[in-house]
Parts: sequence; structure tokens; C-alpha cells
Amino acid sequence: MRKVFRNFLFLILSRVIIVTSLNPTLDDDVLGLIVFKADLQDPNGKLVSWNEDDDSPCKWKGVRCNPRSNRVSDLVLDGFGLSGKMGRGLMKLKFLRKLSLARNNLTGSIGVNLAQLSNLRVIDLSENSLSGPVPSNFFEQCGSLRSISLANNMFSGQIADTLVSCSALGSLNFSSNQFSGMLPSGVWSLRGLRSLDVSDNLLEGEIPRSIDGLYNLREIKLRKNQFTGQVPGEIGACALLRSVDFSENSFSGNLPSSLQKLSLCSDLNFHSNLFTGEITEWIGEMGSLQNVDLANNMFSGAVPNAIGKIQSLKVLNISNNRFSGSLPTSMINCQNIKILDVSQNSLTAFLPTWVFQLGLQTVKFSENKLTGSISGAFTSSNFISHQNLQVVDISQNELSGEIPSDIGKFSSLRILNMSKNSLTGEIPKTVGNLKVLDSLDLSVNQLNGSIPFEIGGATSLKRLVISQNSLSGSIPSSIETCPSLTSLILSRNSLSGQIPVAMSKLANLEYVDLSFNKLTGTLPKPLANLVHLVTFNVSHNQLQGELPASAFFNTISPSSVAGNPTLCGAAVNKSCSGVLPKPIVLNPNSTGSDPDLAPQILGHKKTILSISTLIAIGAAAVIVIGIIFVTVLNIRVRSTMSRSAAAVPLSGSSLSSSPGTDTKSGKLVMFSGELEFSTGAHALLNKDCELGRGGFGAVYRTILGDGQSVAIKKLTVSSLVKSQEEFEREVKKLGKIHHPNLVTLEGYYWTPSLQLLIYEYVPGGNLYKHLHEDEDANGISLTWNERFNIILGIAKSLAHLHQLNIIHYNLKSSNILIDGLGEPKVADFGLARLLPMLDRYVLSSKIQSALGYMAPEFACKTVKITDKCDVYGFGILVLEIVTGRKPVEYMEDDVVILCDMVRGALEDGGVDECIDERLQGKFPAEEVVPVMKLALICASQVPSNRPEMAEVINILGLIKCPSESLEESEQ
Ligand SMILES: *[C@@H]1O[C@H](CO)[C@@H](O)[C@H](O)[C@H]1NC(C)=O
Ligand SMILES: *[C@@H]1O[C@H](CO)[C@@H](O)[C@H](O)[C@H]1NC(C)=O
Ligand SMILES: *[C@@H]1O[C@H](CO)[C@@H](O)[C@H](O)[C@H]1NC(C)=O
Repeated sequence: MRKVFRNFLFLILSRVIIVTSLNPTLDDDVLGLIVFKADLQDPNGKLVSWNEDDDSPCKWKGVRCNPRSNRVSDLVLDGFGLSGKMGRGLMKLKFLRKLSLARNNLTGSIGVNLAQLSNLRVIDLSENSLSGPVPSNFFEQCGSLRSISLANNMFSGQIADTLVSCSALGSLNFSSNQFSGMLPSGVWSLRGLRSLDVSDNLLEGEIPRSIDGLYNLREIKLRKNQFTGQVPGEIGACALLRSVDFSENSFSGNLPSSLQKLSLCSDLNFHSNLFTGEITEWIGEMGSLQNVDLANNMFSGAVPNAIGKIQSLKVLNISNNRFSGSLPTSMINCQNIKILDVSQNSLTAFLPTWVFQLGLQTVKFSENKLTGSISGAFTSSNFISHQNLQVVDISQNELSGEIPSDIGKFSSLRILNMSKNSLTGEIPKTVGNLKVLDSLDLSVNQLNGSIPFEIGGATSLKRLVISQNSLSGSIPSSIETCPSLTSLILSRNSLSGQIPVAMSKLANLEYVDLSFNKLTGTLPKPLANLVHLVTFNVSHNQLQGELPASAFFNTISPSSVAGNPTLCGAAVNKSCSGVLPKPIVLNPNSTGSDPDLAPQILGHKKTILSISTLIAIGAAAVIVIGIIFVTVLNIRVRSTMSRSAAAVPLSGSSLSSSPGTDTKSGKLVMFSGELEFSTGAHALLNKDCELGRGGFGAVYRTILGDGQSVAIKKLTVSSLVKSQEEFEREVKKLGKIHHPNLVTLEGYYWTPSLQLLIYEYVPGGNLYKHLHEDEDANGISLTWNERFNIILGIAKSLAHLHQLNIIHYNLKSSNILIDGLGEPKVADFGLARLLPMLDRYVLSSKIQSALGYMAPEFACKTVKITDKCDVYGFGILVLEIVTGRKPVEYMEDDVVILCDMVRGALEDGGVDECIDERLQGKFPAEEVVPVMKLALICASQVPSNRPEMAEVINILGLIKCPSESLEESEQ
């Protein structure tokens, strides 16, 4: 019989044990443990010593044997990092007394009825990931069991009534699971039970009135369940109880006075229930109490005088109840008390000075009705030691008087909250002696004087809150020596002077509120370095000048800066006139000789401009702030560009070496009818015929079967392209766009990994080459008329696109092709539509990559990207065309930003020097200067200040006066 079973086990085990020879001395323990091991994963190799060839398991790790019988008595594998299921092998260990598998990663349900091992005393399965209900027959024959812990698993369901069979049970720990329903009533008659812990489950129901059967009980923990009803009236019969925890349930009623019989009890925890009634003198009989937590209930009446009898008391928390009256002076006898929390009650009378004579660590009196002066309470002579006090919260009372300067002697103080009282006088200089002070809150009092310079001595300060007082003077620069400061709340005082530059050294600042003071001067520029800022409220002061330039300040909410009449910058939507170049004023009343844009527009022709254009022109100069930012951004974009270039497989060479499957299975569509590549896609993309590269890919010239030249763009963003259907739908849309100033999309070619766009081929090169490279053989460069024509053509193409709700996104001079007649043709439009979504990062890094053309709103998440980003790019392009210079040029030790330079030149009246020298003497100033001004307006930092492209066309029409063209008359 036994042999049959053994063979059966070996069958089960065949994946672990290669049966060579049957070890005749192999006993049941070896077998059982090997089977058990076979079900587990042992990533840390803790069970390597478990070898099925051994005669005895007694030397295996985690195994102990009874020395007389040599049978396994203890299996203790705590924290071995085992995972997997607990298999049947254990049931072979007939002499097992202790099974401890705590702190592993065991999963699954308990399939084996361990408790039925007739010698088993201890089961500890705590801190695993076991789940499911515990089967009801689990406990059926558990008469030998003394201790069971299933704590910290994911067991669920009801706890089986059969638990009663475990009549010898002394310790039961089912805490931190999801057991539900009622506790089996038999639990209350387990006479041997010393420790009962079912906390943190979903148990409900009432506890029987009488639990006096549990006369051995030392510890009862019912915390965090849904129990209701009252605390058993006869709980006092469990006279050995040391720890009682009924917290976080829905118990109600009074606490039974039989509790007073628990003279050994040290921990009494009833917090967060619905208890009512008074705590009376019985509590004084509980002479061993150390920790008492009655918080968050509805206890009322006075705090009983008898509490003073409990000399052992260390922690008393009665916060958030309805206690009234004053604390009994008898408490001065509680010489061991360390933590006293009586906050959120209705305690009255004075702040008891004896409280501070007890050597407390934590004193919380907040939200009561204490009155009187605090001056006496913190007087040095009251204290046996200054070292103990760490936390003082007396906020939200009706306390008055001055903060005594002795406060500085409490060198261990970490938290001091005196807010919402009626304190007067000055902040004592001695707060600077509090070297470990973490949080100081003196807000909402009547403090006056200035913030002491010495505050800088409190070098650990993280929170400084002194709002809503009557403080005057300036913010001391000494706060720079509090480098941990995260919150600085000084609002609603009468602080004056400048915001100290030193504040910008507080690199951890997150919350700053200086609102409603009388601060003057400008915001220090280095505040831009504060990268952790969440709020920075300086509203309602008298600050002036520009906001610091940083991502945070560029997007600061207007309410944070409101009420400072002379503060300027994009966030307050007000131009910084003192700092910026003269705004271009459009004065409809001015006459004749004024070289400004206005008379040109309104004098020559009678067209009426839209109001938004007028506003745009008027506000044109609100710009400069963004420039530095944009430059920084562009530089960053350049670096991400080079990174992304490495990430995306691209270029003709990699293509020509790739296998030809794609091209064979691809789909070629020409909008004008069926056409064939004469040579196949690969040969098409000949590196020698490469025309150029852009954000979206390389462009090649090729000749189709019918002899037609086309430009083929190979998309390098193919990994980003949408599905074939979406791609085709979008491409077909783009293919329908026809405009004399747009490069026509003639077809496309699609495979999952290769997408080609087939464009009309435009001879004549791009604008970039014309402006910056073709320092022509004959020295002939573009004339002013040609340039103007190009500008107008670009404007028309953009207006057309915008009318179709298409944003170009990628305007730059290399995308403007010039055909044989000198007409501009804008290429590369609308390609962002081929991406799965209009992602700002992708747009700014991959596509809108051209240095200097990128509108500033790409940098701020909160501003919607609209077609106004094209208007910005257009403005930069116009400046480039007029000046012949690149949008950003790197000099030896300088970076020249084109629109910055032009704006400066306009202001200094030296604008002529900006104009392309190849045009010198051959341009009409009355056209060129307004065009430059228009360009600056288009390049406004604030998108809404930029005109619509349709308006731009109108203005260009007004500027151009054909009959008087200087060039034409010269030729
Ligand atoms: C349990 O498993 C998790 C992930 O599966 C692992 O991170 C953790 O370290 C394991 N715990 C132990 C005690 O091995
Ligand atoms: C129950 O087990 C948990 C987890 O092991 C432990 O933290 C808790 O102290 C135990 N309860 C008692 C009463 O020993
Ligand atoms: C233009 O003249 C009108 C009437 O003379 C006057 O009301 C208006 O303020 C003037 N506008 C400017 C900008 O000077």
C-alpha cells in the first residue's frame, strides 16, 4: 500500500526527480517535502539543500526534527522569497508541529487541510498573497492547533463556524484580509484564546454582550471593520486584557464602566467610532494605561479629574469630540505623558500653564475655545527641560498676548502653530534659535513689527506662514539661509520694499504667496530659476516691470499677478513699454510726411482695416520677452533633433539596401490617373537625385514613365504615420488642394513601412538657396519686386490653407520653392495631419524644427496652437527675405536673433542698415519699412496680436504702390 502511494508521488514528481533508483530509505518526510518543494519557485535558491537523495531531511534548511523520532517537527521558511502554491506534500508530514511560511509570495487558495495534521500546533501563513475563502472543513479536526495566523493575505468570504473545533486555540490572527460577514459566534467561547486579531477586514455585526468566556484574553483587536453595537458590558471580566482596540468601526453608546476592572490594560483604543456619553471617574482605576485614543467620537462632558491618577499615561488623544470645560489640573501628576492631543473640542478657560511643566513632546490644543494670554505659558521657569517639546499646536483658539521670547529656548521644536488667535506684538527674534524648526505658522493674528532678520537662523524651516497679520517692513534677505523652504506665505500684511533677490536661492520653493502687501520694485529676474514653483502669487502689490522669463512665469495665471498696475509682460497681457522698443503706433490722424505704416495704409487707399488688425498693429511690440525663451527652446529642439535622427531609420542609403518586399506589395496612387514608376521605388530614390531633407523626410527627384519630373518625399516619420486608411484619407484631402503658390501633391505610394509622397517638381531651387547660398555667378540676387512678390505669394498660399482649416506648421525658407517665373510655391504643408495626433512635442521637435521660425506658443502647454503659428513663421520669413539674413545666426561669441535685431534697429532709427545690402540703393523705403513693421506684427509673441493671413494680404496690397516703384523706374 505504502509503496503504491510512493510510486504515485513519484509520478507527480516526475518533472523534478528523474527516477534512477528508488532510495529504499526514503521516508515520508523526504517525500512530502520534495513534493512540497516541487510546487514552489525558489528564486533565491533557499531550498537547494533539499535533496531527494538524502535519507533524512533533518539537516535541510528550514527543517527541524524531533531528536527522538527523527521526524520533521518544525518547518520554518519565513522570508525565503518562495512563490507558487502550497501543495499536498505537506500532508505527508504527520509529525509536524509548527508550520511557518510567513513573508513569502505564496499564491492561490488553501487547498490542503493543514489543520487536520494531528500534531500541528502552529500555522503561520501571514504576509503572503493567498486568496479565496478558507474552506469550511479546514478547521474540522484542528483540536491540536494553538496558534494560527493568516494575516496580511487576500483571503475573503466568511470565517467558517467550524473554527470552534479549534478548542485549544490561543492565538488567532486574521488581520488585513477581506473576510466578511459576522465572526462565528463560537469564537467568543474559545476559552484558551489569548490573542484575537481580526483587524482590517470587512467584518460586521455586533459583539455579544458577554464575552466573559474569554477569561484568558490578553489582546483584542477589531480595528477597521464594520462592527456595530456596543462594547460588551462585561468586557471587564476579561481581567487579563492588556490591549483593547475597537477603533475605526461603527460602535456606539457609552463605554462600559466595567473597563475599570482592566487594571493590567495599557492600550485603550476606541478612536473613530460613534461613541457618546461621558468618560467618568472609572478611568482612573485603569492604573496601567499608557496609550489612550478616544479621538473622533462624540464623547462629551468634562475630562474626568481621575485621569490624573494614571501615572503611567504616555499618550492621551481625545481630539475631535465634544469635551468641554477645562483640563483637570490633576493631570500635572501624569509625569510620563509625552503626547497630549485635545484639539477640536470645546475646551475653555486658559491655556493651562502646567501642561508645559510635564516635559511633553507634543501638545495639541487647536480648535478649542481657550482664552487668555499665552505670555506666561512658555516662560522658561515653567519647564523642567527645554529639550522635550517638539510640536506645539494652539491654533484656532481665542488666545491673546505676545509670543514670549523664551520660545527660542525650545531647541527641539519642529512644529509651532499659533495661527488664528489674537496674538499681538512682534515676532520674537529668538525664533532664529530654533535650528530644527520645520514649520512656523503664525498666520491670522494681530502681529506687528517686521519679520525679524534673525528668522534666517531657523535653517531647517520648510514652511513659513505669517499671512494675515499687520506686519510691515521688508522681507528680510536673510531667508536665503533657509534653503529647505517650500512654502512662503506672507500674504495680507503691509510688507513693503522689494522682493529680495535672495529669494531666488531658495531652490525648493513650491508655494509662494506675497499677495495683498505693499511690495514695490520689479520681480528679480533670477526667480526664473525656481523650477519647483507651483504657485507664486504677488497679486495686489505695487510691483512694476517685467515678469521673470521662465516656463513657469510665462504661463502664470493672471490672478497671481493681478492688481499690480505697472507690472507688464505676456501673462498680464500688457506690453513692457519701458523696456521694449517703441510700439508701432498707427495714428489715423497723422498726415503726410510721417514715414510710419499708417499713412501708407490709410492715405493711399480707402480700404478699411479690421479692428483686430488695428489692435494687432497697435500692440505689435509685446514681443521681446519670448525671444530668449524661444531661442533656448530652439537650441533644445536642435539637440532633440539630432537624437531623433538617430532613432528613426532614414535616408536613401538605408532604403536601397533594404529588402524589396515592400515595393512589390506597395500601392501607388496618382491622383491624375494611373501611372507607373519606370524603375521601381528603390531605384527611384537614388541618393544622387536627392533634392533636400526636411523634418518629414528626404526629397528625391525622379522621372516617371511618361517623362514627367516629380519630387518624391520619403517620409522618415513612418513609424508615426497613421493607419493606411487614415493616411490615404488625409493624403487625398491634401491632394485636392490646388493653388498657384502651393506645390501640388500628385500622388502617393504606401506600404506599412515605406510611405512616399509624390509632388509636382518645381525647378529653380528654394528660397533659402536664393537668399543665403546663390551668391550668384553674376552677382545677381533677388530684386525688391521679386522679393515682394514672393512675400505676397507666400501670404496668399497661407491664407488659402487657413481658409481650408489647414495649418502648415513647418514654414521656413527651404520649404519655399521658386519656380521658373519667380513665383513662390510653398511645399510641405499639412503633413502634421498624417501623424496620429497633433502632439506638441512631435510638432516642435520633429517638424517645426527650423531654427527661429517656431512660434513661442509651442513652448507653453496652456496655449492652444492655431493657424497663428504660421503667421509667426511668415513674419520671420518676411524679415529673412528683406534682410537676407537667417532667423538666427551664430557669430563668434554672439547669437543674433533676427527679429530682435530688426526691432532694435527700428527703435534706433537705423532700420536701413538691416535691409539686405544686395538691395542697397534699389528699394523704395516707403515699401520696405512698412513691410518690416508688418513682419514684426506677424511675429508678435501673443498669438491673438498677430493678424489673419487674409488681412496680411490686404495690408501688403496697401503697401505696394506699383506706379511709383523705384526699381521699375530705374530699369
Ligand atoms: C514577491 O514578488 C514580487 C513581484 O512578483 C517581488 O517584487 C517581491 O520581491 C517578492 N517578494 C518576496 C518576499 O520575495
Ligand atoms: C497579526 O499579524 C500581523 C502581520 O504579521 C502583525 O503585524 C500583528 O501584530 C499581528 N497581531 C497580533 C495581535 O499579534
Ligand atoms: C484722432 O482725432 C480724433 C478727432 O480729432 C480724436 O478724437 C482722436 O483721439 C485722435 N486719435 C489719435 C490716435 O490721436
